[in-house]
Amino acid sequence: MTATGHRSDAPIRLGTPLTTGATRVMLLGSGELGKEVVIALQRLGVEVIAVDRYPDAPGHQVAHRAHTVDMTDPAALTAVIEAERPHLVVPEIEAIATDALAAIEAAGTATVVPTARATRLTMDREGIRRLAAEELGLPTSPYAFADSLAEVRAAIEGSPVESAAVEGGVGIGYPCVLKPVMSSSGKGQSVLRSAADLDRAWEYAMAGGRVARTRVIVEGFVEFDYEITLLTVRARNADGTTGTHFCAPIGHLQRDGDYVESWQPQPMSDAALAEARRIAGAVTADLGGWGVFGVELFVAGDRVLFSEVSPRPHDTGLVTLATQRLSEFELHARAILGLPVDVTLTGPGASAVVYGGVEATGIAYDGVADALAVPGTDLRLFGKPESFVRRRMGVAVASGDDVAQARERATTAAARVRPVTL
Ligand SMILES: Nc1ncnc2c1ncn2[C@@H]1O[C@H](COP(=O)(O)OP(=O)(O)OP(=O)(O)O)[C@@H](O)[C@H]1O
Ligand SMILES: [Mg+2]
Repeated sequence: MTATGHRSDAPIRLGTPLTTGATRVMLLGSGELGKEVVIALQRLGVEVIAVDRYPDAPGHQVAHRAHTVDMTDPAALTAVIEAERPHLVVPEIEAIATDALAAIEAAGTATVVPTARATRLTMDREGIRRLAAEELGLPTSPYAFADSLAEVRAAIEGSPVESAAVEGGVGIGYPCVLKPVMSSSGKGQSVLRSAADLDRAWEYAMAGGRVARTRVIVEGFVEFDYEITLLTVRARNADGTTGTHFCAPIGHLQRDGDYVESWQPQPMSDAALAEARRIAGAVTADLGGWGVFGVELFVAGDRVLFSEVSPRPHDTGLVTLATQRLSEFELHARAILGLPVDVTLTGPGASAVVYGGVEATGIAYDGVADALAVPGTDLRLFGKPESFVRRRMGVAVASGDDVAQARERATTAAARVRPVTL
């Protein structure tokens, strides 16, 4: 396998790690999702290099080599890629110098998963929203972009504003949602119920964006019945063409913009499922490349709205560790290597997050035996060196006769794990 050869019609060849013929994959971001991808790659005999911004990140602990790098610094990012010469570069997080990835891809130094363009478009809510709504014509919530409080007010209330920055969405109304265009896990995001919420929401967005004083998106609040992640896998077919595979829909519960529980399968009408697949198929086809995509959708009756997409495994997809023949991490590993995938659901399941609950380094976990005594349950403790009250430190996953039983098991097990300071 050469740097780009894995895209050709040639048979896929995997080497031996730590030898000249090794197949080398570099993870950019090595958190809990990256850690599982590293393990999946290790099982296929791939040489794995894990990069994160802090030492001893979860994925660092299971890779062949680990680097601590500020991945938003283009020079530092380019330097580590050029030093390691991986065949594949696999972004696991959004906060990456995507221009440097584009240069790496253009120079043929490495293949960026799924593509450099996909990582650039999806790191910024404006890029992906404009692509989905304006270029692909996919249904989304009403939205507008704004660079000042006055523009936000104008977008919501439809009052005139002397700026070209408010486009397409004057008069969104209340309730609505304000988000920095570059942020994740609900950071800087709030719901506005009336004009009284404007100042606070604006200040929160300014403080919570990945980049200081960033642009914001204002979205109409969607009264959905439920929301799903549709894991969509683009993988190589035997004849070298690309096939699109849909996992069973994952339902999830978000609190303060962060997922706390997920389950699979989420029951859906045939019409809603078909529409969800149409939307996911269209957006992932445009983004291109091979790998797992987490397509986030809001569902009301048979109506489905596109929300956003991660060009990588999704946190709510941790449930697939308990539900699918191949977890989303194994699917990603296979797809990026050009290997066949299988999205078979083996049975209903659920996941529930274990939070740190304390602010400390090197914490310990009591209650693990009690948690694992819950039937059908498994646990992942990520090994993060530092705990915060609301940091995700682990996850309980469970199978069950049905989703309700699996959710009960997962939440019970998660609650039994007690992080403690030493
Ligand atoms: N327009 C909306 N209407 C109703 N609810 C919304 C809207 N936008 C976001 N939400 C809720 O907030 C959650 C987080 O929003 P979103 O996915 O846009 O943010 P995020 O910071 O990218 O989160 P993550 O990185 O965890 O996916 C959604 O899953 C949904 O529950
Ligand atoms: Mg989201």
